[in-house]
This record gives sequence, C-alpha cells and structure tokens, in this order.
Amino acid sequence: MSTNNQDISQPQLVAHRWAEGAIVYQIYPRSFKDSNGDGIGDLPGIIDGLDHVQQLGVNAIWLSPFYPSPMADFGYDISDYCNVDPVFGTLDDFKRLLAEAAKRNIRIMVDLVPNHTSDEHAWFLESKQSRDNPKADWYVWKDPNPESEPGRPLPPNNWRDQLAGDVAWEWNEARGQFYLHSFDVRQPDLNWSNPDVRDAIKHVMRFWLDLGVDGFRVDAVYWMAKDPLFRDDDRNPHYLEGSDKRANALIRNNSSGWPPVYAYLNEMARVLKEKKYQDKSRFMVTEAYPRRHNLIASYMAFYEGIDPEVAAPFNFEGLELGWRASSWTRFLRAFHLALEQHSPLCVSSYAFGNHDKKRLVSRIGLPAARSAAVMEFTLPGMVFVYNGEEIGMRNVDIPPELVHDPEARHNPRQGRDPVRTPLQWSPGKHAGFTDGPTTWLPIAADYKKYNIKTEHNDPQSFLSLYQQLAKLRNGSEALRYGRIQVLEVGHEDVVGYVRSYKNEHWVVLINFSDKPVICVPGVKLTKFVISSEPKTKLASNPEGKVQLLAHECALFLQ
Ligand code: GLC
Repeated sequence: MSTNNQDISQPQLVAHRWAEGAIVYQIYPRSFKDSNGDGIGDLPGIIDGLDHVQQLGVNAIWLSPFYPSPMADFGYDISDYCNVDPVFGTLDDFKRLLAEAAKRNIRIMVDLVPNHTSDEHAWFLESKQSRDNPKADWYVWKDPNPESEPGRPLPPNNWRDQLAGDVAWEWNEARGQFYLHSFDVRQPDLNWSNPDVRDAIKHVMRFWLDLGVDGFRVDAVYWMAKDPLFRDDDRNPHYLEGSDKRANALIRNNSSGWPPVYAYLNEMARVLKEKKYQDKSRFMVTEAYPRRHNLIASYMAFYEGIDPEVAAPFNFEGLELGWRASSWTRFLRAFHLALEQHSPLCVSSYAFGNHDKKRLVSRIGLPAARSAAVMEFTLPGMVFVYNGEEIGMRNVDIPPELVHDPEARHNPRQGRDPVRTPLQWSPGKHAGFTDGPTTWLPIAADYKKYNIKTEHNDPQSFLSLYQQLAKLRNGSEALRYGRIQVLEVGHEDVVGYVRSYKNEHWVVLINFSDKPVICVPGVKLTKFVISSEPKTKLASNPEGKVQLLAHECALFLQ
C-alpha cells in the first residue's frame, strides 16, 4: 500500500469511550420543533422529534443553550446556568428529554458558556454595584485609558466585540470603570484569573453532570484568557472594510488565546473524571477556531494542554479549509499523524456546519455537499451534524426587517439568521415546525422539496444518504475506531484514504472537481459499498484505475 505515514501500531485501549466514532447531532432548540404554538422551538418539541434523530442513527445530541436568557445572543447570554428558560420549557422537560434520549441510546451534551454571562445574571448585577462587593472581581473591569479627558472616559484599549465589531468596552457609572464584553454588550466577560469564578463554573458542570448529561460543548474558549497587560490587538493587514466582519479589522492576538486557556480548560476537564462521575464516560468538546497561520499547532495545543481522555477541540476544517483536494490531503496527513504521535487517546471531532456558519450546501453546492457527507462519516473521531444538514437545508435570505442576530447590527447581510431557520419537517404548513400562526424566523422557500417527510420516502435524497452512512459507520469498527492512512492516488483533484481496524479496511475516494476523473488508489478494492452520486458507474471489483463522476465520493471495502 502506498501511504505517507509510517506504520504506527494500533491504539490499545481497554474500552472505547462513547465519543470515539460518535455521530453527534447539534440541535439549535429555537429552530428544531415547536410544541406550544409560539413559533419558537422548545424542549418538548425536541422530545417529539427524537424518533427522527434516532432514525438518523445519531449517537449523541449537543443542545445549544436552553438556559434562562434575555436572548440578546439567543441563549449564549445566560442569566442562570442551572435552569431552563420558560420559552424552552422547564427543568422537568429537560429531565424527561434525558430519559427519552437514554431509552433510544442517545447521549446528551449540553452547551457550557464559561467566557461570559448575561448582563442580567445575578453575578453581574452584584459585580457592577461597586468596586468592593463580594463579586467585584468576577468580571473584567478596567479603569479608563489614562489619556482620557475629564468627563470623557476612553476605553482602555482597542479591542472589539466579536459580534457587531464595536468597541468591546462598556462604561459603568457606578464603578467609574469599563467592563469587557468580547461578544455582545449584554455578554460581560467573566474574569477567569479569579479562582472563585473557576469554582463557580465547575459547580455548574457538576449540576448538569448530576442530572446525567454525558458531556459538554464548551463555548468561545479562546476568550477565557487574554493578555494580562491588556495591550492593543494588532491591526489585520488583510482586512477589507465592507466585505469582512468588522471584528476582523484586528487579529485578536492580545484579546484572546493566551496560554492559561489550556490550564483553565484542563481544570474543567478534571471535573469529568471526579469519582462521582466515573460511572460512565463523559466528554467535552471545546470551541476555538484555530489560528490559520499555525493550524496543526493550534489544534495540538488543546490536545497537549487538556486531558485527551475526556476532552477534544472541535475540528473546524470542514468549515474553514475550503473544498480542495490538495488542502485536505495535506491536512489529513499532518493532523492525524500529530494526533497519533501525541496519544492514542486523542479523539478528532469534525464539524461541517453549525449555527454560526454558512450552511454546507450553500457553501459548496449540492453535489459536493453529498460528497462531503460521505467524507465526514468516514473520518475518524466524532462527527457533528447540524440540524437541517441531514436534509440539505440551505441558507435562507432574511428580509432586513426580520433580522434578529446581533452580528448583523451594522450589516444585515452578515448575520447568522440565514442558517438558523426552522427545521423543515414536512411539506405542510410552516414545514411542520409549528402549529402556531408564525415562526420566529421565516421558513425556507424550498421546504416542500427539502423536508424530512418527503426525503424519507426518496431513496436518493440527502436524508437517505445520511441514514445509510450512519448505518455503515455504526456497524463498522474500522469507521468508528480505525486509524486513517492517506493514499497517493495519482490525481491532484482526488483525496483517498484507508480506515483500518483489526482485519477491517475501508477505502474512501473523493473527487473534489466538477469533472469526471480517473485515479489509481494503489490498493485492492474488493467491494464497492456506497457513493454520493446516485448515478454512479462504480460497481464491485474495480481494477486498478477507478473512474469517479464529477464531485463523487465513493466508499469501498478493501
Ligand atoms: C460561540 C457561539 C456563538 C455565540 C458566541 C458567544 O461562538 O457558537 O453562537 O454568539 O460563542 O457566546
């Protein structure tokens, strides 16, 4: 076999943790299913929809925030970490959801937002009162820039918030100080250098672990540690005013990503291994978009700094790398070699979509998106599917008067609403999302074609492809646990790899171009299993040369 990697022996693990090879389905609760007719999704709606999740072959769900919140950032501004917002239901609904999911053998990860709270959280209400109350140091408070003129306080530095791209500092009259908000003005940053804050978040973790959750998705972790001198961020020389997000005018080298991030997260990871929680395997996945100039090192810093037995960073290359064969070949080789060399415990964690990024089909087109689905389900580690991805949902144009997202404050075209529209369940009214008169965001115009019910009956639909892929992955030790070896395939537009475990070997070939190609994978292909292309010409036993259709991704047994 012609491979680039040296032979590294198979990881010898006593038992597999649930995260290894898991298919995780991200539910954005506002948009999944509405049970009470208010046009906003809720927890009982999620329980209603669990059969769909189960039929998809999902092993775990990650729930975006459902906690009490003024909804300035749609739940990522939390005013009480240990409860459920009435718009989504009650804590009893959550317990019922846990039980119903467990009956279907589906694990639950909840979203943990450690970097900031809502400005209505009791901690902040206390902290902002004075400079000497018990929570005075729980947030990031700073005096004005010393160059300020009397009565005209200037912010301490040039940092910008990541949503609207405005100044990241807000003046507070009572304290005569600014507070930092790395995101919306209503999301003050917690002060992670304060051990009491760290303890408080660990307490939150224990609250949800005690209820029985299997893990966490940890939000916006790079912002947990900043330059202790609070120096300015550097300007981004590549910034294009008007087309880039305003926050991208700066490169965030001081406002985020300082080394204590890993120590803080490792402290959190240790909670997952506390005696009380050893009854089952628990896992957390951290959200950080890696520094592009030092990609692999950026990912590895998380694996090296945080116990890989219970934690992994998201792998965002499905969102960021672009759909090019050369980039993927290079990335897969370098990344998986680095993981193998570090520890057999490392779990990769691929996402090709989420509630913040353009939808997969809108990014790369339908045929390539089908290809990406086959690729994702045959990659190692966890694979994340964002609700709607499984039916090929696209971005939805939102008229300016219906825009909700704070990221769109200065530019209605830059918000994330287009990827957060209600899930399309059926060709019926409001796509079967609600019985009520309206929906919080508009339903996609193409919902009669792209919806769960219609696609369920079509063996060539996106949904059928996802279901078949999940079935294959769930039934194969090699696809779940196997190591990956990247092949030389003799064509610059094709990526090929083998997934192997014990005596089971699967070969994946992906044509990244919009033209048919002939490649030479250099390994025996004994059985053709599935293709992203319904019109595939592949059959069993292709010899030597393999001809792939435009955008085709095919899976074989070796
Ligand atoms: C993360 C979330 C995003 C949110 C931000 C602030 O990036 O995914 O939706 O706006 O953090 O919490």
